[in-house]
Amino acid sequence: MSLVINVNGSKREVVADAETPLLYVLRNDLDLKGARYGCGIGVCGACMVIVDGKAVQSCDVPVSAVAGKSITTIEGIGTSERPHPLQRAFIAEQAAQCGYCVSGIIMSAKALLDARPQRPALLAANVQSAGRGRRGRRWHSPAGTGVLFSLGLTLARPVRELSGVSIVAGVAAVRALRALGAAGTALKWPNDLMLGVGKLGGILVETRAQGAGSAVVVGIGINHRNAPGLAARLRRGVAALEDCLSPLPGRNAVIGALGREVLGALCAFDAAGFEPFRSDWEALHAFPGEPLRVRLADGRILAGVAAGLAPDGALQLRTRGGLRTVRNGRVLLERRA
Ligand code: FES
Repeated sequence: MSLVINVNGSKREVVADAETPLLYVLRNDLDLKGARYGCGIGVCGACMVIVDGKAVQSCDVPVSAVAGKSITTIEGIGTSERPHPLQRAFIAEQAAQCGYCVSGIIMSAKALLDARPQRPALLAANVQSAGRGRRGRRWHSPAGTGVLFSLGLTLARPVRELSGVSIVAGVAAVRALRALGAAGTALKWPNDLMLGVGKLGGILVETRAQGAGSAVVVGIGINHRNAPGLAARLRRGVAALEDCLSPLPGRNAVIGALGREVLGALCAFDAAGFEPFRSDWEALHAFPGEPLRVRLADGRILAGVAAGLAPDGALQLRTRGGLRTVRNGRVLLERRA
């Protein structure tokens, strides 16, 4: 019989017996050799493709069953010039052994990840070797010294409404730390966690459009124990949770407490917006009503008195020239350290 199947976004006409396994048609008729023949009975997964978003063993499904459906093979997700992120990760980690079933593993992983975009995910690390800070700064955290995690989730709000997310995450992080007993923790605009004048940690937020909403990743790094020589290396005050918590909770306990609080805060933000967090941030600000100096994005220094946050999370300073709103800059603490 003649039928049309939709493979990697193209309609392909094939002539085959209705019961012919899809794998045979892909490999023999369409010359798509990425899906492999392993067991031939739907057990090993070497022949995995994605059909209408679901991972399917192509050796075990007749071609007639997929007519009109959308089929994706490994050839459809990346090329050697532009590999899919999963392929890049496999290459970077040299994850393949003999390599025979790698395409099946990657297609299974892709289907799994694609099917779960709505569910929050928290990934924690023991060591950070190439962490990213604001403006491309690199962060290193030796094994066992940091509370390091990223929380990924989908929000209904579009990216243009997310300018306050790092403020929301900061408020939630300090709430969680104070609940653990770290009473002296506070916030420095826009994304630093402070203990006195020492930097305890930082928050970095990445966003991208996802349908009508947004995919958001909130990365949080907090010093759990003091790393010898760090303050001298950074030439500024540095603090760690061991300076203010005794007994010091384990890193997993801290991650769990922060992860729950940040997730709850982001869901509340998604529902009600930034406004409810403005007064909370001001109550947790390390330097409310104090004179501040801010290095602006163009290098100029702006001096003024901290005057809370604008409705979008920008810092407001009362200067000699009136109220100024800072959206991109860094509060300097040299005089305090
Ligand atoms: S070849 Fe093993 S599951 Fe298809």
